[in-house]
Amino acid sequence: MNEKEQVAKEAINYIKDGMIIGLGTGSTANLFIDFLSAKVKQESLNIKVVASSTVSQIRAINSGLSYISLDQIESIDLYIDGADEVTKELEVLKGRGYDLVREKLLAKTSKQFIVIGDKSKMVAKIGEKFPIPIEITPIAWKIAKKLITEISQKCDLRPNAAGDAYAITSYGNYVLDCEFKYDDLSKLASEISQIPGVIEHGIFLDMTHLALIADQGNIMKYS
Ligand code: A5P
Repeated sequence: MNEKEQVAKEAINYIKDGMIIGLGTGSTANLFIDFLSAKVKQESLNIKVVASSTVSQIRAINSGLSYISLDQIESIDLYIDGADEVTKELEVLKGRGYDLVREKLLAKTSKQFIVIGDKSKMVAKIGEKFPIPIEITPIAWKIAKKLITEISQKCDLRPNAAGDAYAITSYGNYVLDCEFKYDDLSKLASEISQIPGVIEHGIFLDMTHLALIADQGNIMKYS
């Protein structure tokens, strides 16, 4: 079992019968969906799921999980998702998978948000390995990019996977990937949020209850 599988399996221990569970996006979250589906079938659990992206929604439905639409719920019990970067203080960067809006909705509304990942996700400072994704409304992209560039070092529209157009989120928006020099992450997050045309950004502060990180056969727990 590799580290992603180990940590996805560990997260299964936090499932309780009757829960509404938020499913994440990415290779680690996919493994969790597969383990969850197997557990629900084996134990005939009454579990309902919502998903942070269309991709995980389709995976959940195909694996037989009972799926409910996000617009039908006001809160969920548990959200389990991967991340792009995590600090020991539980600052989290997400959004390589485009769907910042759904991911943040689930993180914010969940009674418990658990991040799962291998040790490559741990960083001393958010933005160390990846740019910060910012979802913007298409009509405002030039204005938003100009305004963000005033506080960032580098800011580019994200290309799609084929590299022949721009990436489009589930909500029909663009994503800017931006690099910042900053001292105060919370201040940076609120500065980004205040820029017109910005819909959401990938900095998740004060939302994560626990990070499960697989490291050489051990599961490190940060809370
Ligand atoms: C999705 O937008 C991201 O926040 C993912 O959670 C992240 O990219 C993790 O993906 P992996 O588990 O494949 O590393």
